[in-house]
Amino acid sequence: MALVFLNGRFINREDAKVDIEDRGYQFGDGIYEVIRIYNGKMFTVKEHLQRLIESAEKIKLTITYSIEELEEILGNLVRENRLKLGIVYIQMTRGVSARNHLFPSDEKTTIVAYTKELNRPFESIKQGVKVKLVEDIRWLKCEIKSLNLLPNIMARQSASEEGCYEAIFHRGSAITEGSASNICIVKNGVVLTHPANNLILNGISRQVVLKKCMEQNIDVDETTFTIDELFDADEAFLTSTTSEVMPILEVEGRKIGKGLVGNISKKLQAAFEAEINVQCMAHV
Ligand code: PDD
Repeated sequence: MALVFLNGRFINREDAKVDIEDRGYQFGDGIYEVIRIYNGKMFTVKEHLQRLIESAEKIKLTITYSIEELEEILGNLVRENRLKLGIVYIQMTRGVSARNHLFPSDEKTTIVAYTKELNRPFESIKQGVKVKLVEDIRWLKCEIKSLNLLPNIMARQSASEEGCYEAIFHRGSAITEGSASNICIVKNGVVLTHPANNLILNGISRQVVLKKCMEQNIDVDETTFTIDELFDADEAFLTSTTSEVMPILEVEGRKIGKGLVGNISKKLQAAFEAEINVQCMAHV
């Protein structure tokens, strides 16, 4: 039976109950992280937990655990559940209190973590995907990994209904990111991606890919690019914890480049795979 972590205890999934007046449930007043598990090991776990702490600070949420303690908790959960390939999800909310927009005076953070089996999307990674454009109507603090995902959910649903893998947000003519991923384009050998500011979540996979570009002498320009530049790109790809490096072959029914997985995309996929091997596949 799967164990979950709830407020300091490892308990059976069936016994894990959160009150109806939890502020995560009522207001989306909380934050989360999704961490990949390969070979029973957590990928880029420190980076994810660092971002969790930063998200908490930005919404003034109290975390009483250190990164090391959180890493141990999640590691135990993965081990106890004998998870080899999947994700571990961790969420923190501003706790349970009578509904009131003001922070509760006796705030007690609700912490939930659980694991889930999830295969790697090998077929889409190899063949590439189609995406749709959606106006970015989100707030101006997208760097916080907050529970408020309604615009992301609406965008992803509409993309899926049109047979697309992902919805790509744009603010006016500027491309920001995907509903649950970051986006890069390649033009004349240069990888372009939106700067890590308040308009996007600075994805951990994005950061891994940019580091790999540096190592492989691939030029990177962290700058905004437009919808027209996306249509005109030689290559485009998404990055995320669950999608890894996912080539985009079509945007709004229009082919990107030759409509095939590009060489730089392939190089970065190989480099990403190598990083997974280093972090998670090595025998200890
Ligand atoms: N989503 N941008 C948004 C809006 C996201 O929700 C995500 C991740 C990313 C990519 O971040 P990372 O590389 O750290 O996974 C970018 C997670 C996986 C989710 O909500 O399921």
